[in-house]
Amino acid sequence: MECDHKGQFRTSTMPETLSIQDIVDVTYEKYRSIDDGVVATYIPELSKADPRDFAICLVTVDGQVFCAGDWEKEFTIQSICKPFAFQMALEEFGRERTLARVGVEPSGDAFNSIELDPRTMRPFNPMVNAGAIAVASLIKKESAAAGVRAYVEKMQLAAGRKLKIDCSVLASEASTGNRNRAIAYLMLNFGIIDEDINHTLHQYFSQCSLLVNCRDLAMMAASLANMGTNPVSGEPVFDFQYVRDVLAVMFTCGLYDHAGEWAYNVGLPAKSGVGGGLMAVVNRQLGIAVYSPPLDAKGNSVRGIMVCKELASRLGLHAFEFTNVGSSFVQSLF
Ligand code: DON
Repeated sequence: MECDHKGQFRTSTMPETLSIQDIVDVTYEKYRSIDDGVVATYIPELSKADPRDFAICLVTVDGQVFCAGDWEKEFTIQSICKPFAFQMALEEFGRERTLARVGVEPSGDAFNSIELDPRTMRPFNPMVNAGAIAVASLIKKESAAAGVRAYVEKMQLAAGRKLKIDCSVLASEASTGNRNRAIAYLMLNFGIIDEDINHTLHQYFSQCSLLVNCRDLAMMAASLANMGTNPVSGEPVFDFQYVRDVLAVMFTCGLYDHAGEWAYNVGLPAKSGVGGGLMAVVNRQLGIAVYSPPLDAKGNSVRGIMVCKELASRLGLHAFEFTNVGSSFVQSLF
C-alpha cells in the first residue's frame, strides 16, 4: 500500500488512486452479490428482514461521513446494545460495583450459553447474553419506562438523532425469550441479579429492540473512537475514562466464539448483532458499521465480517499492524 500526502492511497490490487468514499463504494460493490448466511429466525419478527439489504458506513473522528448502499434502512441493534449498556453501568456504578456482577473474561462460547464463570459465578463478560442481562439488571431504573428512556436518550446522543424502540421486535423477543429467562433465573439463584426478573428482561429486550440504521451505528462507533464525543454534533456522550474498558471487552469478547479469529484477522474492537449489524472502532480515528442480515452459524453478519476484514486490510487498521499505514493515512486527513 502506498499513500500520497492528500490522503489518497494505492494498493497492489487497486491500481487507481482512491478516496475513502471510493473505497467504501468499491467494497460495497465487491460484496454486494454475496448471499451466504441465513437471517435470524429464533426471534420470529427478525425473520422478516430482507437478506439483500446491505450497507457500509464510515465516520471519522473529525466528523466526515462515508456511506454506501441501504444506509438509511432501519433494523434492531440487538447485541450491539451490549457495549453501550456496559458503558452506562460503569458510568453509574464505577468499576468495582459493575465488575462484582460481570467479568471481563472471554468465554469462547456462544452468545446465548447458559453458563457462569465457575470460579466466581458471575457471567463471563458483558457481551454474552448472561453478562448483558446482569448489566441490564444494574442499569434498570425503578420504573421500567425510566430505565429504557435513559438508555434511548444515551443512544440518541451517540447517533445524533431521535431513535425509537421497535415494539413488534420487543414483543416477539419477550414472548419467545425463554432461554434468556433461564439465564436470568440461573443468575438470580447465584445472587448476581435481583428477583425482579421481568423488569430486568424488559430492560434487556428493549435495549436489543432499538431501531438504528447503518449510519447511526457508525456514528456510535465513532463516538467511542472519539473519546466519548459525537464527532458530528460535538456532544459529549460517554465518560471517556470508561471507553477504554468497553473497547477492551469488545476486542476480546465482541464476536463471542469468533472473537479470537476476529482479533487475529481484523484486529479491531467490535460488536455484532443478530439483526445483521456489525460495528467496529478504530480508536481515535473512525467508526465502521456494516448492515447485512444473513448470519453465520455463530450469529455474526457474514458480509459484515468480510467487509471489516477487507477495510482493515486495505486501510491498515489492525491494532497490531506494525506499519499501520492505513491508520496514518486516515490521520493525515485531520
Ligand atoms: O438475547 C438475544 O437473543 C438477542 N436479543 C440479542 C442476541 C444477539 O444479537 C447476538 N449477537 N450476535
